Amino acid sequence: MKCLFAIILIFTGVNIYAQNDAKMNAFVTSLMSKMTLDEKIGQLNLVTPGGAVTGSVVSKGVDENLRKGYVGGLFGITGPDKTRQAQQIAVNNSRLKIPLFFGLDVIHGHKTLFPIPLGLSCSWDLALIERSARIAATEATADGLCWAFSPMVDIARDPRWGRVSEGSGEDAYLGGEIAKAMVRGYQGKDYSSTNTLMACVKHFALYGAAEAGRDYNSVDMSKIKMYEYYLPPYKAAVDAGVGSVMSSFNDIDAVPATGNKCLLTDLLRKQWGFKGLVVSDYTSVNEMTNHGLGDLQTVSALALNAGLDMDMVGEGFLTTLKKSLQKGKVTQQQIDNACRRILEAKYKLGLFEDPYRYMDDSRPAKDILTSGTRKAAREIAAHSFVLLKNSAQVLPLKKTSSIALVGPLADSRRNMLGTWSVAGDFTKAVAVIEGIKNVAPDANIIYAKGANISDDSMLIKRTNVFAPDEIEIDKRSPDEMIAEAVAAANKADVVVAVVGEAADMTGEASSRSDIGLPQSQLNLLKALAKTGKPIVMVLFNGRAMTLNWESENMNAILDTWFGGTEAGNAIADVLFGNYNPSGKLTTSFPRNVGQIPIFYNHKHTGRPFNNEPNAKFKSNYLDVSNDPLYPFGFGLSYTSFNYSDIKLSKSNLKGNETLTASVTLTNSGKIAGEEVVQLYITDVVASVTRSVKDLKGFQKILLQPGESKEVVFKITPEQLKFFNSNLKWDWESGEFIIHIGTNSSEVKSGKINWVK
Ligand code: BGC
Repeated sequence: MKCLFAIILIFTGVNIYAQNDAKMNAFVTSLMSKMTLDEKIGQLNLVTPGGAVTGSVVSKGVDENLRKGYVGGLFGITGPDKTRQAQQIAVNNSRLKIPLFFGLDVIHGHKTLFPIPLGLSCSWDLALIERSARIAATEATADGLCWAFSPMVDIARDPRWGRVSEGSGEDAYLGGEIAKAMVRGYQGKDYSSTNTLMACVKHFALYGAAEAGRDYNSVDMSKIKMYEYYLPPYKAAVDAGVGSVMSSFNDIDAVPATGNKCLLTDLLRKQWGFKGLVVSDYTSVNEMTNHGLGDLQTVSALALNAGLDMDMVGEGFLTTLKKSLQKGKVTQQQIDNACRRILEAKYKLGLFEDPYRYMDDSRPAKDILTSGTRKAAREIAAHSFVLLKNSAQVLPLKKTSSIALVGPLADSRRNMLGTWSVAGDFTKAVAVIEGIKNVAPDANIIYAKGANISDDSMLIKRTNVFAPDEIEIDKRSPDEMIAEAVAAANKADVVVAVVGEAADMTGEASSRSDIGLPQSQLNLLKALAKTGKPIVMVLFNGRAMTLNWESENMNAILDTWFGGTEAGNAIADVLFGNYNPSGKLTTSFPRNVGQIPIFYNHKHTGRPFNNEPNAKFKSNYLDVSNDPLYPFGFGLSYTSFNYSDIKLSKSNLKGNETLTASVTLTNSGKIAGEEVVQLYITDVVASVTRSVKDLKGFQKILLQPGESKEVVFKITPEQLKFFNSNLKWDWESGEFIIHIGTNSSEVKSGKINWVK
């Protein structure tokens, strides 16, 4: 089969780690000259002795394999004491004393948890996101680690998929900017310092497009779509110098990513110039047998041939590569290349100089979960929340109000951290009720749980796999709990209802076909609505949800994702106006599941629907509008912003000229606030169908009440480029519409003509 990626030669990124390091090469070459075949294959083996695992297999005989030199790295253990113990075995007992590296899923913080990545992305604040990764790297390296399996940059347009929580939403441009910020945060200028670590961009590739939003499912996609909308964030991470890449579980063009040579070699290495190491996902080598590609030996050889260097947990490489070499199914050169890349990573991490450099016992006390990291977590969390509704300015609340605080997530430290908080300790998290008491000690709080997160026994069982009390079932009946909450509401000025998903209702293997609030909580809200008291809904969620009834019947909705260790304090900061919310959605909220996939940069159809009441033979539904409930880029503030008409420096441009597009933004409200000003471009006529508009820039602007500022974007032909039918990244002469606005649907627009 012709390689999918062979004809594309468009990317020209510069890899800042281009390895011409003669010293490193000489060192690795000399070391490899002493290694046996078994020892080389041993380096390709990444094992986990247990801990938080995501597959049915954990590694056995780890100790013995360490002594033989049959392990390249370990993941799933933390703490300088434990990592040191394992390192000592490798360094003192294996023949060549090659140190191990230690990895972990450090996804949105290590011990100090920040908002889940989807929440972080809603801050649209790259400096803040970079800072969160920087702190995570400092904590993780103080905890014995030197490799983070992050950033996860899978673009996702289907909120049924639970792993939307781990990424940055639906937009490739924003996703790419965030990918770079994360890599910078983790790795610093390189990753040789003891407080930086090697990042791992994942899951390469297209994992976010799993069919029907069901995890681990197949992916099938046109090339233009993958190039334009799914690959850019991985590429951005590679350009930013990411040290490693993780292959994904799904297939692409009928070959699983882990054994896909077009992807791992032709695209990643040859076209993008990636020089680092490629690791499989958890047993994804072995799983190619389930995909129907042959027995363990066959699929392991397929993976090595494809360009995979390291086998996570499955030990297919360890147990079969030697046989495959003898049978001519793989070459010595391929094994050597993979081994070299792993040794190079260790060299760059400084492990050959000092295998114990990340195991400093004095560091945890000064670097982990300090008042400084908690302060940052609080600030960053507040920036990630998105105000979806605020009728009659019910928010911010007065600090002296009488508040009925209800809902299953109001007093649940267990659910504050969100998915992938493997090193986090939820007992250190701040629950919403605690945060409210901290921030508004004079408020009168009347607490009632009101409902269980869910009463659906299958959902409870499947959610509570790792934490039996994550969805905690009250001894009282649903009616009793609702009655208590209604009584609380009747005594209060305002209701704050803290509702949503349990932490593990999103994340890996947490797809849902119904993405609304569980029935138990809807029943609670409906009973509360009948009291006539104003209701502020504080939502916990790891995905876009269907919130039709809530959007009509709640007075305010604050989407807080899973805010991390300081969630409760940060939520209270926003509820009481210590911080004016500034987050904007990075994922469209559908009105119902039938609209999925729904995303702002869809294509034009031949029969566009313009909301005509009696239209027939148009691209629409009979029973729901085409628009999302809340569009990409949407988010309110406690103040209001006024956009002037757009100003364009020219209406006709030629060649490499620069267009200046601007608006005057005014804070027309009474308090200071930040606004994310968004730039979109529509390519009106092209040789291929284009989307209705694409995000091309954004700026987050702070304005005092009454203050105005001109917000200026410089546009060059670079921002007009797209992938044409030959998969060439280029632009075409013609008409373009430039939009600047507060979200993807509300924009000020102007037309230009630009010729080559
Ligand atoms: C996940 C990865 C993760 C790995 C190691 C897998 O199941 O897909 O994202 O890094 O486990 O924990």
